[in-house]
Amino acid sequence: MSAYAQTHLAPYSSQAFEVRPFDAPLGAEVLNLDLSQPLNDEDFARVHRAHLDHGLLVFRDQRITPQQQIAFSRRFGPLQIHVLKQFLLSGHPEIFIISNIVENGQPIGLADAGKYWHSDLSYKELPSLGSMLLAQELPEEGGDTLFASQQLAYETLPAHLRQAVEGRRAVHSYTARYRDEVFSGVRRPTLTAAQLAEVQAVEHPMVRIHPETGRKGLFVNENFTTHILGIPEDESRQILAELFAHSARPEFIYRHQWQPHDMVFWDNRALIHLATGCPSHQRRHMHRTTIQGSAPL
Ligand code: SIN
Repeated sequence: MSAYAQTHLAPYSSQAFEVRPFDAPLGAEVLNLDLSQPLNDEDFARVHRAHLDHGLLVFRDQRITPQQQIAFSRRFGPLQIHVLKQFLLSGHPEIFIISNIVENGQPIGLADAGKYWHSDLSYKELPSLGSMLLAQELPEEGGDTLFASQQLAYETLPAHLRQAVEGRRAVHSYTARYRDEVFSGVRRPTLTAAQLAEVQAVEHPMVRIHPETGRKGLFVNENFTTHILGIPEDESRQILAELFAHSARPEFIYRHQWQPHDMVFWDNRALIHLATGCPSHQRRHMHRTTIQGSAPL
């Protein structure tokens, strides 16, 4: 059969995979699913449903190529290209490299992506639907990623915070905490004028309705949200500090301890996440695709 027929005509047979929810406020692992094969419509619908139900899926043991990661990610929507072009995988700009590896004195990826709680690309007019992060090399110690449900956070807001966020909008900016700072001996690259033009600050509602499930969630984060519109600066700072503390309460969190060849797919419309870091002498290298979502409502 020709390559065209294999990708366009052959009905791929269903895979006997299992979705096993974690004993946690969110997340499930997917076992015995091979993402190097295109999924047929039935399997894709099961994966899609599980992602909406659990907010995060861990696909175990994925020995897939960059092209296969991109192809699977594209089933969910168009992919977003990160503003730090120097950290895009050569030949595959849809893949953003998160890595603490330095070669010839140059970092090959962003080492400190995710050291503050955030939702990916909340600083864009069209923030991300979800991200897929594939482990390439893992440290022996640390390197975990934490995920917190912002739907649970919204549902448990104390009355005064619920009143403070309802109907309000906040500003998100990529540069809010971006500094030319040194992280494990490596300096973050200075943003060029073209990069700065790509990441103009945007406004979003502080509570968003999930476009596919209709569930409400908090939509602010300590990495990118700078201030609340329409209230005095000191009041905005105080409310945001309380919201950031509430949004990362332990009872909303799933902690992901990476296993070799894990690919984690999380919903940026419903969760925030944080990379906990690892000893700087241990290598951690990941490939991320970022799927574009809709404007928050
Ligand atoms: C990210 O924020 O996308 C990176 C998370 C991680 O490195 O664990």
